[in-house]
Amino acid sequence: MSEKNFERFTVTAALPYANGPIHIGHLAGVYVPADIYVRYLRQKGEDVLFVCGSDEHGAAITLRAKKEKTTPQAIVDKYHTMIEKSFQDFGISFDVYSRTSKKIHHETAQEYFQELHAKNIFTQKTTDQFYDPQEKQFLADRYIIGTCPVCDFPEAYGDQCENCGSTLSPEQLINPRSRLSNATPIKKQTSHWFLPLDKYENWLQQWILEEHSDWKKNVLGQCKSWLDNGLQPRAMTRDLDWGIPVPLENAEGKVMYVWFDAPIGYISATKEYFQEKNDSESWKKYWQDEQTKLVHFIGKDNIVFHCIIFPTLLKVHGDYILPENVPANEFMNLESQKISTSRNRAVWLHEYLEDFSDKQDVLRYALASILPETSDSDFTWKDFQTKNNSELVGILGNFFNRCIVLTHKYFDGVIPPQNKLEKVDEEMITTLEAAPAKIGKAIEEYRFREAIQELMNVARLGNKYFQDTEPWILYKEKEKNQARIETVLNLSLQIAANLAFLSKPFLPFSAEKMQKMLNLSNTNLAWQYLGKVDLLQAGNSVQKQELLFAKVEDKEVETQMEKLAKTLAQKQQAQAEEESKISKVDPVKEEIQFDDFLKLDIRTATITAAEKIKKADKLLKITLDTGIDERTVVSGIAQHYSPEEIVGQQVSVILNLAPRKMKGVLSQGMILMAEDTNGKLVFVSPKESIGNGSEVR
Ligand code: 2FM
Ligand code: ZN
Repeated sequence: MSEKNFERFTVTAALPYANGPIHIGHLAGVYVPADIYVRYLRQKGEDVLFVCGSDEHGAAITLRAKKEKTTPQAIVDKYHTMIEKSFQDFGISFDVYSRTSKKIHHETAQEYFQELHAKNIFTQKTTDQFYDPQEKQFLADRYIIGTCPVCDFPEAYGDQCENCGSTLSPEQLINPRSRLSNATPIKKQTSHWFLPLDKYENWLQQWILEEHSDWKKNVLGQCKSWLDNGLQPRAMTRDLDWGIPVPLENAEGKVMYVWFDAPIGYISATKEYFQEKNDSESWKKYWQDEQTKLVHFIGKDNIVFHCIIFPTLLKVHGDYILPENVPANEFMNLESQKISTSRNRAVWLHEYLEDFSDKQDVLRYALASILPETSDSDFTWKDFQTKNNSELVGILGNFFNRCIVLTHKYFDGVIPPQNKLEKVDEEMITTLEAAPAKIGKAIEEYRFREAIQELMNVARLGNKYFQDTEPWILYKEKEKNQARIETVLNLSLQIAANLAFLSKPFLPFSAEKMQKMLNLSNTNLAWQYLGKVDLLQAGNSVQKQELLFAKVEDKEVETQMEKLAKTLAQKQQAQAEEESKISKVDPVKEEIQFDDFLKLDIRTATITAAEKIKKADKLLKITLDTGIDERTVVSGIAQHYSPEEIVGQQVSVILNLAPRKMKGVLSQGMILMAEDTNGKLVFVSPKESIGNGSEVR
């Protein structure tokens, strides 16, 4: 905990996975608060670097590629571009938006890994890991799905339950299955490099719970629960073919754990930013100088990685500063239900803009007023409409509008002078003067909801001032009241000017419009200067009124609600189709007697040769060693298996089936295959090797 005055700030926002577009939950969880914080610091004149980029490794990407039947590279290219555009559209003002597939990141992460390896930080261990026997692949935690032991949600992932937010390990899942093949995973030995978190437990206890007891309660709570449960060594490498290769000998086929490389992405992005300025050294100031305040903005599912694992990686390296704060948010729901990317239950930013072009600030405002800062919150379209119509239009827009309109009406658009002040003016000025510090304190303490409320209170103050002074009544006797009307209008315009500058961190697009209307477009006023009533000079003019905020009509809200309901219906239909597939399993055939079964002579045999049959794209000619003889069978599996891959395969075969000719080849028996409702074919083979000719019964 420190009241230290830092020389500069490095502010990071979680690198979103480039596996899908960005939705309102992302904005509310991370990017809106981070952007408010950064814009405010810049306005204070602080030296701040705001860093983000796409997280392009990990199972999130490979699974999406599998789902879209394409390559991981194609997935990250598509979504990186889309995400970057959404951030720009909503005014999220990163200094750099990078991506973890860049060379500079691969190099930075590999160097970091090597450095820790050289310092003997990692322990190399061979352990049992989950493995998909059908896909012949080790399974990252995300590749395993099963029932959550905490909330019974049937589709929890091996690392986390999206329903209740619990962090899990695949061992905890009930009925685990592979997301690749649906098979039950088995355990298989493999060797990996581990970060022995247990060794740093005492240090983490001290650093988090004692030195940083000022962190948000929700963050401390999660950290405490991790620490109380005891930390375990965590593998920093994976057996995968997508990711950053582990830069060590004997590490063939191993890549870095995505949570090792992703946070290092913040560092690589900083390097990239300065490299583009032909400055290869300055990045160090932002990561290695004690005078830099490092703040990570994240969602609650990232707490352990940013409060425990990454700080440990920074600490053991030795050259780096540690985060001063990690103001993680909880989750935001949508109309009382979880936002879910996989279920397409979300408000996607690109779709929002199709329906509400030019209303970026409305969303920023609506979200900032309900940020899930201390507990989960709920976005509803009705509330969105109210926030817009009653607050942005009804309070802020209305006040600003009245200032501009009355200045034109009474003074031809010229700012009148300030004359003698009355008590009501002085009271208003006292309240106004206190506002910037109030807003600033709330921002610096990561209470953004409160900050935006305080901003709206300044607009309320303006409306109240109009109500108290009633310039329109004074105007009825304008000659007599000339001096008073001038003062009231001048002071009202000063409030408006304050609003233009105080809004900048929250409503950047509207703030620009406000500045323009007041002819202050090229003026940069530092936060410290705000709260005063000399922002505008008498004699200068204001521009014509421009629409700041427009009403959201009931119809528009209804359209959004219908859209949400439609997605839900589509999902239900897809589920029903999935279920109907299951019911397509053939019903049980007519009963037979045991003797009927005994008539079948089923034996084990091994395929010794196989070849395609000309002009028959489904058939293979297969030579079998049956333990009794060598014989040929024709099997309709050519579209599922190539001849090369089945040689050596042990199978079950019916030997006493009457021979029949197929495409000119005599088939002496039939190989048993299992076929599912999707037409997938697999051999019915003995689980262990057994002599050919063994009877199957
Ligand atoms: O949860 C996520 O979306 C991760 N991609 C966040 C990574 S943050 C950082 F470590 F890069
Ligand atoms: Zn759960």
